[in-house]
Amino acid sequence: MSASIFFILFFTSIFLDIEASNGNCTHGTPDIRFPFQLRGHQRQHCGHTGYELDCKNGTTIIHFPSYGDLVVKSISYDIKKLDLNYPKNCVHEVYLNLNLSLTPFQYYHAVKEYSYLNCSVRISPPLIEVPCLSGSDYHVYTVDPSLAVPDSCSLVKTIPIPFMYSPYLSDNSFGLGLTWSLLGHEDCEAKQGQSSLHPKREQQT
Ligand SMILES: *[C@@H]1O[C@H](CO)[C@@H](O)[C@H](O)[C@H]1NC(C)=O
Ligand SMILES: *[C@@H]1O[C@H](CO)[C@@H](O)[C@H](O)[C@H]1NC(C)=O
Ligand SMILES: *[C@@H]1O[C@H](CO)[C@@H](O)[C@H](O)[C@H]1NC(C)=O
Ligand SMILES: *[C@@H]1O[C@H](CO)[C@@H](O)[C@H](O)[C@H]1NC(C)=O
Repeated sequence: MSASIFFILFFTSIFLDIEASNGNCTHGTPDIRFPFQLRGHQRQHCGHTGYELDCKNGTTIIHFPSYGDLVVKSISYDIKKLDLNYPKNCVHEVYLNLNLSLTPFQYYHAVKEYSYLNCSVRISPPLIEVPCLSGSDYHVYTVDPSLAVPDSCSLVKTIPIPFMYSPYLSDNSFGLGLTWSLLGHEDCEAKQGQSSLHPKREQQT
């Protein structure tokens, strides 16, 4: 009798501990599974470098080298999509500054090269400035890289991004979606002893 009460208390306290340690990360906390791990909360060997998430100020964040922290909105494991929030509702600020080559991620949507121009005067339509990147005395545009850079503009960067700026599309319709290429079945258990179970390579003809 006392043994079963002990076990009930024991497991209840473990459960409460887990709840407490994750408690402040439950502000819309995504389901965190392989290959992601919450730093310090899961078996270290089950996570992969670059997939560590942190709990900061009650929200789940991911840190990108050379960029900084972004808030994780959701993770869809079936389609391998990591949805992130972006600061100040300005997805182009992230596109401009995030360098994914240092991470295991790619943009979820297909990318195309665009140039960011920074102009001292407003360029005539059809070009429309990215409001959240522009100021009162400079105007930032996303343009096709083949466009000759106007005299009043300097080229900031030409980079592959999912979308050029359009005033007709709210940033929210696409958001900031990333995908990863790690195989889904390459999980902890498979790595720990079932090494003969190599995934068959799919051949495309
Ligand atoms: C967790 O949240 C509670 C209130 O929701 C707050 O009192 C506590 O300080 C927070 N703990 C941490 C570590 O942020
Ligand atoms: C922490 O979160 C609160 C409310 O969600 C916000 O007002 C505050 O600015 C945040 N602090 C930091 C350092 O992000
Ligand atoms: C991204 O980082 C890589 C590696 O440091 C670098 O070679 C590349 O030029 C960077 N790309 C951009 C667009 O800054
Ligand atoms: C554009 O130029 C202005 C002033 O020269 C500068 O403050 C701003 O940071 C630049 N923006 C970008 C995106 O390069």
